[in-house]
This record gives sequence, C-alpha cells and structure tokens, in this order.
Amino acid sequence: MMKRIAVLTSGGDCSGMNATLRAVVRAGLGSGLEVIGIQKGFQGLIDRLYETMTTRSVSNILQRGGTFLQSARCKEMRTESGLRLASENLKGMGVEGLIVIGGDGSLKGGYAIHQQGIPVIGIPASIDNDIPFTDFSLGVDTALNNIIRAVDNLKDTASSHDRAFVVETMGRNCGYLAVASAIAAGAEYSLIPEEPYDLAQICADLRKRYQEGRSNSIIMVAEGAGKAEDIANHIKDRIGFETRVIVLGHYQRGGSPSVFDRLLGARFGQAAVECLLAGNGSKMVGLQGSEILMTELKLATTSGIRPINPMLLKLANQLLI
Ligand code: F6P
Repeated sequence: MMKRIAVLTSGGDCSGMNATLRAVVRAGLGSGLEVIGIQKGFQGLIDRLYETMTTRSVSNILQRGGTFLQSARCKEMRTESGLRLASENLKGMGVEGLIVIGGDGSLKGGYAIHQQGIPVIGIPASIDNDIPFTDFSLGVDTALNNIIRAVDNLKDTASSHDRAFVVETMGRNCGYLAVASAIAAGAEYSLIPEEPYDLAQICADLRKRYQEGRSNSIIMVAEGAGKAEDIANHIKDRIGFETRVIVLGHYQRGGSPSVFDRLLGARFGQAAVECLLAGNGSKMVGLQGSEILMTELKLATTSGIRPINPMLLKLANQLLI
C-alpha cells in the first residue's frame, strides 16, 4: 500500500491550481496517505524545497488565483543530470507517487520522471487549452471570463469614440482563447494560428461596416497569429476607424477561479489521487464530455497540440462578420 505522495505545480500558473492542490491534499489525507507539497515546481524537486501538507495547509486557498506552492519554468529538468537529481530527491523523500499540475512542458517533465521509475499522474493546467485528451484544461474558463470582461469594457469606450480595438490574447500556438472569447464577447474577428486570414479583406469589411454607421469593432488576435501592434498598424489607415491596441497578457492568468475551474480542479485532484492508489504508473486525467477519463501520459505528451473543435470554428465563422 502506497504511503507517501507528492504534488507540485509547474510552468505558467493558472486559476484553479489552488483548488486542485486542496483536492489532492484532502483526498490524499482522507485515503491515509502522507502528502508532500513541492515548492516552485520541478525547481523545488531539484533544490529539495518541500513541506508536509496538512488539511490546514490548504484551507482558505480555494478562492485564490495563482498557486500557493508557487511555480517555475525549470531549465535543469531538460538535462539528464537535472532529471536524475529530481528523481533521486523524490526517492530520498520516500515519495512513491507524484502528481504534476501544469501545461504541456510540465506534463512532459512528469513523464520523464516516470521513466526514472516513479509513478506520475498529470493534471492538465494551462490557460492555452492546447493539451490533447481533455476538453478543458484547468484555468481556461477563468481566463475566458477575464478576457470577456475586458472586451465588454473596451466595447463601451470603443463605441464612444468610433474606434476599433485590436485585442491580443495569450495561448502560444493555440487560438482557442481568441476564438472562444470572440464568440462569447461578440467580437468581429478572431485571428488564430490554426486558420489563414486575409488582412486586406478584413480591412475592406471593416471599412464597409464603418460606412454603414457601426460605432466600434473588436478584432481578437491570438498571440500565435501575430502581434496586435502590427495588425493595428496595418489596418489603421485602411478601415476608416481609429485603432487602439490592448495586449491582455498576464492579466488573463490571474483572479479568483470560476465555479467551473473550482469544480474541475476538485474533480481532477481527487481523480489523480485515486489513479495513483489504483497502482497506475503514468496517466493524465482529463475531462471528456462530462466524464473524468485517464489517458496514458506518454500519449498525452506526444500527440501535439489539441486541435480546436471544428464546430467551434464553424460557429465563429457564422457569428463573426
Ligand atoms: O502557457 C501559458 C502562457 O500564459 C502562454 O499563453 C504564454 O505564451 C506564456 O505562458 C507566457 O509565459 P511567461 O509567464 O513565462 O511569460
């Protein structure tokens, strides 16, 4: 019977990580396990930064964004020696299973630890929604809520001045945040890396719109599709609207998690503990439909980025101009 597990948050933080940590700790303690919290992600494994978790360690954190264990992007984990040191340290702590909460790079790090002989369960957590085998990663819903709040506000000021706003979202090579927020906030365009776009046509459409008396336009740009500043410079003299640029940046990652992310974190955390207790070597938990299902961690970390659902792209094409 497994006695001690560890948990860490790694890579870019997102809202819902604390709710997930709380679920891991409480589900673990409730099953008779000792739970070690590793600080600062994989860096903390290398530097042996950890604390034993109690129920008190995770009280009053559910509603907070970020991660109380802190996170890091750890270059040493990409080296053989760093990986070996991290695994030896885990074994030295008597840890028999590790739960990694993070994005694609962090889950790859988790799989590399598993290859050193330690059971590892991954929990997909990244606002980018680019991890395959889960409909949603943790933090996506809160990030979308942050984005649409910003766009709603921008529409008020845009329409007061007959302006167009070019709004840049995060997401690395994945356009999910831009397209989903464009639908939810009623933007005119979403430029995403998954689909080619024609700026000349966009300018012509926007100019026509302006001539018809519309008072504002919102163009969402995923960071992987181009820089908002460049797009704005390109269109500003061609559309008949003044343009302004907003790069939402890290604002998208913070804030109190939505109900969806709190529930998802609770379900992911509990499922990850149960998965370790069931004797699994390396899996990733994921939300598929309404079910929490497991995928082999190797498959989840070698299948490339999650494609955007074609139905969502079709919807965007129908609802945006
Ligand atoms: O992967 C999450 C993410 O927020 C990306 O959307 C973004 O490109 C990147 O992290 C930013 O990284 P950092 O926080 O290291 O600047």
